[in-house]
Amino acid sequence: MVKKRVAVLISGRGSNMEALVAAAASDLYPAQIVVVIANRPDAPGLARAAAAGVPTGVIDHQGFGMDREAFERALEADLESRGVELICLAGFMRLLSPWLVDRWQGRMLNIHPALLPAFKGLNTHARALAAGVKIHGATVHFVVAETDSGPILAQAGLAVNAHDTAQTLAARVRRLEHRIYPLALKLLAEGRVRINDGRCVIAGLNEVEDVLISPGPGGWST
Ligand code: GRF
Repeated sequence: MVKKRVAVLISGRGSNMEALVAAAASDLYPAQIVVVIANRPDAPGLARAAAAGVPTGVIDHQGFGMDREAFERALEADLESRGVELICLAGFMRLLSPWLVDRWQGRMLNIHPALLPAFKGLNTHARALAAGVKIHGATVHFVVAETDSGPILAQAGLAVNAHDTAQTLAARVRRLEHRIYPLALKLLAEGRVRINDGRCVIAGLNEVEDVLISPGPGGWST
């Protein structure tokens, strides 16, 4: 099997990156993580990636001052030099300019800790609690120029408990993230995802994949 070459971009802890790396360790997985790149030299995920034997890179945005484009050109050059075919943003806290997003259109995924299109942006768990929603979750979507707005590839939901705090909710949602992100990347790497009029159409879903993408009435126990 020819595996797709994937870069994971992080800014922090990197637990989603670890989930992707773990999934990609299987011979049967259709993608390999060829590099983990952080925009912060102190991102804890870098050490985790190195411990898992994955090459790492740092492109420190602060080294470019206010020049966003120079940072992005350096990032793009790095990705190209490694023959990267797909990008997974995993807690990457830099907005990317339209030229870069356009270049990777249909080939760059992000994971967001809410059921989009609800709760775009930051502090999603506290906002979900404040809004009193009864179902919350996470979304894997394609990256487009507008933040947290691209075609939705996979979602996972859970019931909000009366005693949930932003912290407990974050931890429970994160466990779902670690399941749907590897699945979403697998579907993309297998060439089974088509974008039609801003919506993802997925070819040949099997029962397990289907339940993971759109959890049934009972949701998942987390
Ligand atoms: C996750 O909650 C993800 O949804 C959001 O940033 C967080 C990253 O966590 N985009 P981690 O670094 O993967 O642990």
